Amino acid sequence: MEAVHKAMEKLATAVGGGGDKTQYTGGNLGGKKIVTSHGVSVNADKDPDHTMRAVTWQGAKNIAVEERPRPLVTDPKDAVVRITSTAICGSDLHLYLGAATGMEKGDILGHEFMGIVEAVGPECTKVHVGDRVVASFDIACGECRSCSHKAYSSCDVTNPSKDQEMLYGHRTAGLFGYAHITGGYEGGQADYVRVPFADFNLLHLPSDLPDNKLLLLSDILTTAWFSTDLGEVGPGKTVAIWGAGPGGILAAHCSQVRGADKIILIDNQQYRLDHAASKIKGLETINFDKEKVKTAIERILPGGPDVCIEAVGFHYCKSLHHAVMMKGGTIACIGVYVGRVNGFNIGGLMEKGLTLKAGQTPVQKYWTQLLDMVRSGKLDPTLVITHEMPLEDAPHAYKIFNDKADGCIKVVLKTGAAKPEAALASPAKA
Ligand SMILES: NC(=O)c1ccc[n+]([C@@H]2O[C@H](COP(=O)([O-])OP(=O)(O)OC[C@H]3O[C@@H](n4cnc5c(N)ncnc54)[C@H](O)[C@@H]3O)[C@@H](O)[C@H]2O)c1
Ligand SMILES: [Zn+2]
Ligand SMILES: [Zn+2]
Repeated sequence: MEAVHKAMEKLATAVGGGGDKTQYTGGNLGGKKIVTSHGVSVNADKDPDHTMRAVTWQGAKNIAVEERPRPLVTDPKDAVVRITSTAICGSDLHLYLGAATGMEKGDILGHEFMGIVEAVGPECTKVHVGDRVVASFDIACGECRSCSHKAYSSCDVTNPSKDQEMLYGHRTAGLFGYAHITGGYEGGQADYVRVPFADFNLLHLPSDLPDNKLLLLSDILTTAWFSTDLGEVGPGKTVAIWGAGPGGILAAHCSQVRGADKIILIDNQQYRLDHAASKIKGLETINFDKEKVKTAIERILPGGPDVCIEAVGFHYCKSLHHAVMMKGGTIACIGVYVGRVNGFNIGGLMEKGLTLKAGQTPVQKYWTQLLDMVRSGKLDPTLVITHEMPLEDAPHAYKIFNDKADGCIKVVLKTGAAKPEAALASPAKA
């Protein structure tokens, strides 16, 4: 704490504040200042002179685009980023549907975003004004015990939520633009966002690739890779993936890049299965509305797959036991679950000696390696991007993504600070 206070004093001097007027004593334009037990500010101080557009949560299935004050550098290790591109994630749908607890009316959404650094705090050494960067969706300090084990999504420092501690016995990392159990940090579906511990939570990007190739390093590409890492996917392994959203399709892409022998993708959205099959050579698909999954898997892979990847998530949940039933092996679960779901069959897990791994993706552990693979052309995250629209159209974007309408798989929102992307995976229909 001592060090944090010293750092704050230093920043106050650097920004010309001091004494009672420092930004740490409640100068949040009338808002209550929230600080974690480690002295990290959750809510940003605001620029009294400038506003921005922000996508906000107003309640279940109610998204607005509002004018909000711009965030300022608040802690010494912060940066403020001017957003160029920001995506809607499957995890945003849990919020959209009102299925996740801890949202408050007016919360700014968005945890998958990139842009240009607009301002930095005095203790940033790696990021500079003008840098092109992508942010990790989880906010890690880079130094605590969890971070020293590369468990960045479990960072001990960045989440003030007591509810989270009650739910899981320990707080996980703060997340951008998510429910207040993950901190209540403002999100990146906006023109500007404040990024705490900017040196650690922003990755420098090359200038020679378009936003759409790089944006999904923030979350869903990295999450897909994480699922295949948890599942130890590689040559000699067969993989079944539940969910043909962006996460599942990219998990299939990553499985192929890692040399899996056979990949099966399961969903009931035929257009998503067809899209994936058209992009990933040799992919087998199962529509669970048309065929019993167990029968179809036995037909394609007698004896069942070595690895099952769960890329669905709790708001769709019927049960997990169809995945657990198959045979010994590994289940890599990337779906988000809150508490106990559908009487999860823990007996099946134990008796059959299955391995179940799960987690919020520790983005910073993987993103440098993945950036190299995107640069070399080995990985192509754009294969899931079907729609691109201006930030103002966020309410429509959320609707078509949730409703599986208009062929939607992944939407990227543009602030106008970015050049339009030339080639989409399959151009959006009008
Ligand atoms: N672990 C992490 O860090 C992390 C990061 C990003 C996303 N996620 C989670 O990953 C999941 C997938 O994300 P997404 O962006 O692809 O979401 P999405 O909602 O677009 O995709 C989910 C897909 O699952 C399908 N589905 C529903 N019920 C099914 C069932 N019983 N069997 C098979 N498929 C079924 C849906 O039709 C949909 O196509 C979400 O739960 C999201 O919250 C986790
Ligand atoms: Zn996400
Ligand atoms: Zn940490």
